Amino acid sequence: MVDEKGKQDSHRIAVTGDVEVSAYLEIAKERRGERPEAEPEEQPAAEREAVVVMDFGSQYSWLIARRVRECRVYCEVAHHDAPWESIASLRPRGFILSGGPASVYEAGAPQAPAYIYESRLPVLGICYGMQLLAHQLGGKVAQGVKREYGLAILHQNSVSTPLFDGLPAEMPVWMSHGDRIEEMPPGFTSLAYTENSPVAAMGNDRGIIGLQFHPEVAHTPRGKDILRNFLYKVCGCAGNWTPGSFVAEATERVRQQVGSGRVICALSGGVDSSVVAMLLHQAIGDQLTCIFVNTGLLRREEVERTLNTFQKNMRMDLVYANSAERFLARLNGVVDPEEKRHIIGEEFIRVFEEEAAKIGQVDFLAQGTLYPDVIESASSGSRAASTIKTHHNVGGLPSRMRLALVEPLRYLFKDEVREVGLALGLSEDMVYRQPFPGPGLAIRIIGEVTQERLEILRAADWIVMNEIKKAKLYRQLWQSFAVLTPVRSVGVMGDSRTYGYMVALRAVTSEDAMTADWARLPYDLLGRISSRIVNEVPEVNRVVYDISSKPPSTIEWE
Ligand code: XMP
Repeated sequence: MVDEKGKQDSHRIAVTGDVEVSAYLEIAKERRGERPEAEPEEQPAAEREAVVVMDFGSQYSWLIARRVRECRVYCEVAHHDAPWESIASLRPRGFILSGGPASVYEAGAPQAPAYIYESRLPVLGICYGMQLLAHQLGGKVAQGVKREYGLAILHQNSVSTPLFDGLPAEMPVWMSHGDRIEEMPPGFTSLAYTENSPVAAMGNDRGIIGLQFHPEVAHTPRGKDILRNFLYKVCGCAGNWTPGSFVAEATERVRQQVGSGRVICALSGGVDSSVVAMLLHQAIGDQLTCIFVNTGLLRREEVERTLNTFQKNMRMDLVYANSAERFLARLNGVVDPEEKRHIIGEEFIRVFEEEAAKIGQVDFLAQGTLYPDVIESASSGSRAASTIKTHHNVGGLPSRMRLALVEPLRYLFKDEVREVGLALGLSEDMVYRQPFPGPGLAIRIIGEVTQERLEILRAADWIVMNEIKKAKLYRQLWQSFAVLTPVRSVGVMGDSRTYGYMVALRAVTSEDAMTADWARLPYDLLGRISSRIVNEVPEVNRVVYDISSKPPSTIEWE
């Protein structure tokens, strides 16, 4: 996933910070309805409960963390050989050992650090994690006769375990393993079996539990209940980690980090930068200055909306840099999409730096880095991870400006950011916006970007958005927008012949932006959008609907 993303989007320059490619999966999850549990009405002012996932290289490690947090228990992912000192401050109530591609009996296979067992805290080993428990605690793991992959039926043994409280005696689970437990370690009991795994779950009376299957994936329908049982009934957590408690903690942390220093933040009106700005404003008030760069490539009313929300309503110290003319001048005559991106990215950084220089002494730069970036950089340390990071953030700024970073969302998933946004008082409209590319409308005007074309596209785009929202499809669609093509065609209006632009309508469904399908919008809706555009935008006399999927097409036209 990481590599693919890195390759695919390496040319992207996100200047508005609204498109967080590595968080797409998270948005997708939320759209599928996998939302954290409702916040309890009374928030206990208890100490934050945390569980640590030790990552043995599974693609699901982050998903385990996500599921744990959905149960309102704070969770971080740590590298499998992370030193205790890097974890101690979390004061974990338990550990989860992730799956992984290795075989525990191979030379050099990663092992769980001794402190996990010495801590006497509950441990849940999943797949490779379970085999590690067996291997390290004196059992035996060997290659299975048959690789078990896909759905299996889990049968509980007749032993009592809090792990399966409230769960049926038989349930479907998702398996993906070649090795299996041949002999359990001393003191362990088999809790459940499947056709191919005589020991599909095991546990001892110290709260050390192994699962051969993956409770974190959607294919294990009761998996979250199993995890919840582990967290609440084995680790003794109450589940008090909520957006509200996050805001309180994060506010305190920011205050401590920043002291009396001055912070700047590039505000785009996108979800992440808006939430960062709100949080910091709450924490440090006027020590924060936001810089909002108007590239002239934003949608209609976008600038006013952002200024209204943050300057007028929230009374933030906001520098508004109206640089539309500069951007347009630099885009003059440019038709190549990558060149457009490059110019916009570069100009954005220049404007930002100029505005920051006017502020005087600045100590910190606030950024909306999210947890998926952190996990990716930590687990892969790869080129791909760093590509993803730079294109969320205003590329190049930190090192050049030598500012310390403030990243209050660093440990949040995308949907948690949305919840925190709501908790901070941002509107639903603001928090549930469709992604909007950094280079904005410039890559939705095929060919040269001119003021006239921007106005035409804004008018058409406004109608699309308006009708999609009226049809209540806005949140279901990954993105929906208009593209201004350079194609002109003949039309007739009244008694006269017209020669106008062709606008393409693009609406896609997607889970992660890596693949997408064209949305089957109702004909009536398509008809309304088309007739409104040709009637209300005089320069346009033809509307077409893009029915290509990604791949082989892309979502944007440039
Ligand atoms: P494509 O067109 O590659 O787009 O299917 C995938 C997702 O990325 C967004 N996108 C961008 N985001 N800077 C960004 O921040 C860019 O240059 C850029 N180009 C495309 C696009 O809107 C879609 O969500």
